[in-house]
Amino acid sequence: MLNKKVEKALINQIQLEEQSSRIYMAMASWCEVSGFSGAANFLYTHSDEERMHMNKLIKYVNDKGGHAILQTLEVPGTTYKSLLDVFEQILKHEEFVTESINKLYEIAFKERDYTTSQFLQWYIEEQIEEESTFKGILDKFRLAGNQTGGLFHLDKELDALAIADASASAQ
Ligand code: FEO
Repeated sequence: MLNKKVEKALINQIQLEEQSSRIYMAMASWCEVSGFSGAANFLYTHSDEERMHMNKLIKYVNDKGGHAILQTLEVPGTTYKSLLDVFEQILKHEEFVTESINKLYEIAFKERDYTTSQFLQWYIEEQIEEESTFKGILDKFRLAGNQTGGLFHLDKELDALAIADASASAQ
């Protein structure tokens, strides 16, 4: 049986992953109507990844004898100052998610729930990867900043990244 404290913390994380999926979906939608189709594809794919993170947690909680209950979500943002603003907000959000995963790990460890700690290793590594992806994208923004057509090329690169992400998660 899953420890109640750990179960509650896992349910909070489920909510955060679902919220992340919504936030990226809203951002993708804004990118799409703002002419950034590459960024939109990338963020739609990323929104799906967050959903996968949520599903994996739901399955885990239920498999361990808990009950993964879904929580209320916030309405995500509707407009953004620029494409750079979108990606700056994403990095901030991912840093928040990393903190949340680390806290969750700490709770599981303190409760001597080593199975959950082990399960969370995957999320810890995923967060390292995600933060590095978004830091890399922000670096590209800096490089593209003063060049003519820089944003256009960046949008194309994000499109390519979306295709690579989609085929990696299909494997
Ligand atoms: Fe599921 Fe981007 O953290």
